[in-house]
Amino acid sequence: MRGKFIAGNWKMANGPIMAKDYMLRFADLFFKSENAIKSVKNERLKIAIFPPSISLSDINYEKVKTGLPIVLGAQNMHWEKNGAYTGEISAQMLIEAGCSHVIIGHSERRTLFNETNEILNKKIASAIEEDLTIVFCVGEHLEERESKETYAVIREQFLEGLRGIKTSQFSKKIIIAYEPIWAIGSGITANSCDAQNVCSFIRELISESFGENEGSKSIILYGGSVKSNNTKSFLCEKDIDGVLVGGASVSPDSFFDIIKTSI
Ligand code: PGA
Repeated sequence: MRGKFIAGNWKMANGPIMAKDYMLRFADLFFKSENAIKSVKNERLKIAIFPPSISLSDINYEKVKTGLPIVLGAQNMHWEKNGAYTGEISAQMLIEAGCSHVIIGHSERRTLFNETNEILNKKIASAIEEDLTIVFCVGEHLEERESKETYAVIREQFLEGLRGIKTSQFSKKIIIAYEPIWAIGSGITANSCDAQNVCSFIRELISESFGENEGSKSIILYGGSVKSNNTKSFLCEKDIDGVLVGGASVSPDSFFDIIKTSI
């Protein structure tokens, strides 16, 4: 059975000082909740935090110190191992900072930083090589949705982003997050039924490319204006295994409210 995966993408919020306070408050909330402790222990729930890179080491330090059983990931990485790439961070460096996961292809990286499917494909290959688990984001613009191109866009992002990836590499290493761009940070969520239809389509794409077995066991997330009052509606859907939360994950209390509604 697929467990629930609840991920917080802080984006450019919570630098090292705030991150430390966050972890202490989050640890307090978590260790007071028997349900949360039990769900993580039984592998029915995985909690992941994706802070800005500059906060990773501090978060990892607090994670070890408090014993918080969370997954730590980065929001981005470069595909090369090292070299003259000012301002960039490699997969190996993320591992050294305590990461096991990385987000690749977030729509803000695609649209604001011009990351193409080809670039994302190189990043995915490099992350796999270093054994990082990838949260690979796909999603359509509003105009694409209105002109009924959602499925074609998702198919193209999926196939091009994962070009050349073998089943053995995909297995357990790639989580797909469906994030319709018009729902991100807008306060407008997709309705859970529409989100389910796209996530079911993604599951079919996984089966077509990597076999039925991968299709049935892969984790698929929904993201876009997720809050504690709408989380349940998404998690009730058959093909949605978790949520990728932006704004509502920046405070430990609102992120923990989302976790509570998912257990
Ligand atoms: P949001 O962001 O929850 O603030 O809409 C989601 C995301 O970008 O992952």
